[in-house]
Amino acid sequence: MLQPADVAHLMSGRKVARIVLQPDEIAARVEQLGDEISRFYHDGELLVLGLLKGSFIFVSDLVRAVPRPLQVDFLVASSYGDAKVSSGNVRLVYDPETRLEGKHILLVEDIIDSGRTLNRLIELLSARQPRSLEICALLDKHLADSVLKKRPRFLGFDAPNEFLVGYGLDHAEDFRHLPFVASLAD
Ligand code: IMP
Ligand code: MG
Repeated sequence: MLQPADVAHLMSGRKVARIVLQPDEIAARVEQLGDEISRFYHDGELLVLGLLKGSFIFVSDLVRAVPRPLQVDFLVASSYGDAKVSSGNVRLVYDPETRLEGKHILLVEDIIDSGRTLNRLIELLSARQPRSLEICALLDKHLADSVLKKRPRFLGFDAPNEFLVGYGLDHAEDFRHLPFVASLAD
């Protein structure tokens, strides 16, 4: 088991309050999610759409754990309006090249916080007439349960209401590469 002291050299001087998910816990859950996903989609074309940048590591592990044909693409969403608060004014900066119509779309998100980004993407993607639209999130803080237009069909872990980094999650673009998820000390 990794302890905060073991990872201090990775943290650019920031302190880790605690390690929330160990690398082997993540790997075991990703394997289970891959099985759940392949059992859910009996037929049809599946397009896994990762929301960048936070989901890049999760998507790359997840798709290798789904034993069925699928395609992978990414979305880049940008919030505009008030820069400090997630405003819900989301636009797509990179839009998938692939056709969405008639495909099963699995939107992959790193962590659900206010749920605003996800709500807007659900609207945007539903308008493209996919055969189905489901969400897979690695982590959910459950702060958005009552406002989400669609709850994640596949969820890795419940998240504490703390600022988390690692396995794709950043703080000012740092720490995405950590193979574990940690809570930063203030
Ligand atoms: P939402 O629109 O508030 O749900 O924003 C979700 C996005 O905020 C996620 O995709 C993350 O990029 C970012 N985010 C939310 N909580 C955390 C966290 O604890 N650590 C790092 N990024 C986070
Ligand atoms: Mg971020």
